[in-house]
Amino acid sequence: MAMTQDDLKRAVAQAAIAHVPANCIVGVGTGSTANFFIDELGKIKHKIQGAVASSEASAKRLQGHGIEVVSLNDAGSLPVYVDGADEITRHLHMVKGGGGALTREKIVAAASRKFVCVCDASKLVDVLGKFPLPIEVIPMARSYVARQLVALGGQPKLREGFTTDNGNIILDVQGLQILNPVELETTLNNITGVVTNGLFARRPADVLLLGTPDGVQTLTA
Ligand code: 5RP
Repeated sequence: MAMTQDDLKRAVAQAAIAHVPANCIVGVGTGSTANFFIDELGKIKHKIQGAVASSEASAKRLQGHGIEVVSLNDAGSLPVYVDGADEITRHLHMVKGGGGALTREKIVAAASRKFVCVCDASKLVDVLGKFPLPIEVIPMARSYVARQLVALGGQPKLREGFTTDNGNIILDVQGLQILNPVELETTLNNITGVVTNGLFARRPADVLLLGTPDGVQTLTA
């Protein structure tokens, strides 16, 4: 029987468990692929100390499995962070934030020594940018930031009816030429009122576990 996208996500989530050291506190991402990983962590919960969650949703799911959720400030540096992506290149640069959790994801990733990205094969691209780039913005800066994004050649669209875990809004930006993700990540973060943008290039993934119908492929930058 043909493998579904969920089968591929489950396969990479299972493979990611091999990257979790014994007795550690694990950094945990957000989204449907991260949810499969949380379910796998539930099966080995007695071998870990706990987890730092990148969203309220992931914290709830972790707790539902009886896994202790620790604040990042208490946990300190983490050995590993496991999360999905909306797009990823062979350089392991990513677009993230489809679920709106990009800021906390970037913080937990920054505090982790290894970033393991778990994706089904549909997420691998040659050039980032087909997926609209999520940008978390302080609400009062919405119009100002949108004008700056238009000046950069983007078409920002407010994510309607959505507030981030940090109380902010998301602008989803289409039409940006993302040929140099490291540079664009910095440029966008320098717009006053931007909290974070969904480019994860300055701190790319270290390992990509890619789910394909032929099995899980491991890519490193
Ligand atoms: C959430 C994210 C997710 O990692 C990204 O949206 C991928 O989600 P999924 O695994 O459901 O495709 O960045 O903010």
